[in-house]
Amino acid sequence: MEILEQVVQVCRHAQHVGVLSGAGISAESGVATFRGENGIWNKINPLELASMQAFMRNPERILEWYNHRREIILSVQPNAAHFTLAAMENHYPRFAVSTQNIDGLHQRAGSRCVQELHGSILRNRCTDCGEMAEVDPVAEVTTPPRCHCGGLIRPDIVWFGEMLPEAALTESVQVARQADVYFSIGTSAVVYPAAQLPYEALERGAYVIEINLEPTDLSNVVHASLRGKAGEILPRLWQKVLMDS
Ligand code: OAD
Repeated sequence: MEILEQVVQVCRHAQHVGVLSGAGISAESGVATFRGENGIWNKINPLELASMQAFMRNPERILEWYNHRREIILSVQPNAAHFTLAAMENHYPRFAVSTQNIDGLHQRAGSRCVQELHGSILRNRCTDCGEMAEVDPVAEVTTPPRCHCGGLIRPDIVWFGEMLPEAALTESVQVARQADVYFSIGTSAVVYPAAQLPYEALERGAYVIEINLEPTDLSNVVHASLRGKAGEILPRLWQKVLMDS
């Protein structure tokens, strides 16, 4: 059986579906990826922007960079891959997305069950007490704002060397272990612990499908590695799943 047809059959009979998404799923919306051609980390040393040390050294600079990224993210729209995942959630008894993305595009497309493994650029929190503070999307924050406790306010994003939010990670591991079909979409699958999730799914017997423009370390171990743009492959696949089902 052709691999796409096999994937369609498996998706047709699935009950519990999990997804790990990465920067590649938002690329077609106009959000830059981290690695590969035009990747953010090709031009900037991540430790100079995405670390607590960098923030403490020069909070204004870091906030300026994140304000710029937030502006870009708020100016773009979810794409066909985000919308297809939202439609899939309405179809399956159990469906959850674990995303490494901080852009909120899954939620804007209508996904409800989303675990944000690396936080969100749309939230801020206090460096001291941890209390959340909503971001005013139009406010230009150049002087580092302070919490009522006196602590500096920072983006609610997981920086290098920091732990992932425990609840999101625990839930994501559970989904990966219980899923009968698991997708890894638009991720280079090199940043752990998120990259471990497809392996958890594989070990527990899920049928694992990768959708990526390029091969990754995962490509040779998954059941199906579909090469191309997520915004093209996923809607086409989903249309086939719905046809005659
Ligand atoms: P990467 O930038 O590492 O990888 C993006 C992947 O998406 C690559 O494998 C591309 O081939 C693929 N890709 C690009 N466009 C695509 C498209 N239209 N359709 C399908 N695939 C496409 O991004 P992540 O894997 O998300 O962490 O990176 C993981 C983490 O590394 C990020 O969350 C970030 C970064 O450091 C933090 O900031 C904590």
